[in-house]
Amino acid sequence: DKGNYRHFMAKEIHEQPDVVARTLAHYLDLNAMTTKVPEGLPFDFANLQRVVITACGTAFYAGLVAKYWFERLARLPVDIDVASEFRYRETPLDPGGLALFISQSGETADTLASLRYCKAEKQHIGAVVNVKESTIARESDVIFPTIAGPEIGVASTKAFTCQLSVLASMAVMAGRQRGVLSADDEGRLVRALTETPRYMVDALKLEPQIERLARNLAKASDILYLGRGSSYPLAMEGALKLKEISYIHAEGYAAGELKHGPIALIDETMPVIVIAPYDKVFEKTASNMQEVAARGGRIILITDQKGAAAAGVETMETLVMPDVPATIAPMVYSIPIQLLAYHTAVFMGTDVDQPRNLAKSVTVE
Ligand code: M6R
Repeated sequence: DKGNYRHFMAKEIHEQPDVVARTLAHYLDLNAMTTKVPEGLPFDFANLQRVVITACGTAFYAGLVAKYWFERLARLPVDIDVASEFRYRETPLDPGGLALFISQSGETADTLASLRYCKAEKQHIGAVVNVKESTIARESDVIFPTIAGPEIGVASTKAFTCQLSVLASMAVMAGRQRGVLSADDEGRLVRALTETPRYMVDALKLEPQIERLARNLAKASDILYLGRGSSYPLAMEGALKLKEISYIHAEGYAAGELKHGPIALIDETMPVIVIAPYDKVFEKTASNMQEVAARGGRIILITDQKGAAAAGVETMETLVMPDVPATIAPMVYSIPIQLLAYHTAVFMGTDVDQPRNLAKSVTVE
């Protein structure tokens, strides 16, 4: 049931504050302000040398964001790859490691094949899944459920932010178990996580501005997304979302890679969407933005008030986001990215919930 929405995708975008809150409540103890370690967890983060993450599509981008979190908050190295590559790479794994699989459906063929490879390599198998009865869930040692409810739109939205919520909570848990985070650090991060839904509500208020902007984007034939740090996977996710449902060609790039090639594409016809909360790497991204501006590129900047003030460039449009703690920015910044893709597609008149050539769950390789 789409309720009052025109598409499932719109409904699912708007459900995010609720489902993210529900998912977080599963992993966080809101009285003690700690993470909740799942019962019977078959490994201790303190003893892990590394985590291997495998997934496809949007779930892969959630894993890429998690790499930033696990490495920074828990000093735990993460190897990550798309499942279609991982499964055939014959990567050697030390027994007793943690292999994490992220999948909304829990049925993605390549992800499942990667899981079976890791099982044969004697890894602990953890799955971040939305469908608890799925094959990936059944074949895992431990399930970290996302509590997004059924996701109908082929373009993943709420499953993604719920995956991020689970992974951020896990990274804090890991940081605590590994002695990287103090009890105070944990408390501060848990508090920040609990504020995510409220900030998502604020971000949703940008919808009218985004809808107007989408009319402009719909005229473009190519769009570049740039981000640095944990905004880099978001840039790729934004590009994927846009191409899936609007059929406009888009690419997501690490902002620092701009001068290694893609800058050659910049002209006044190609919009460049820059995802840049005012964080530790903002100044670096700002200088990439200035390079784009100097070549006549049209910039759409997604940032907060401080970022807008410090950007130092003329933008075509600036979406001013709430000022959020760095750790939760990927969840909150997902909202404008999804809305941009959605409204562009609606404007173009495509079949948003069932885009051409795509299936909701890819059970064949
Ligand atoms: O069910 P899964 O999470 O394993 O699916 C993985 C991808 O097929 C999926 O995320 C796909 O990229 C979506 N259409 C993205 O919107």
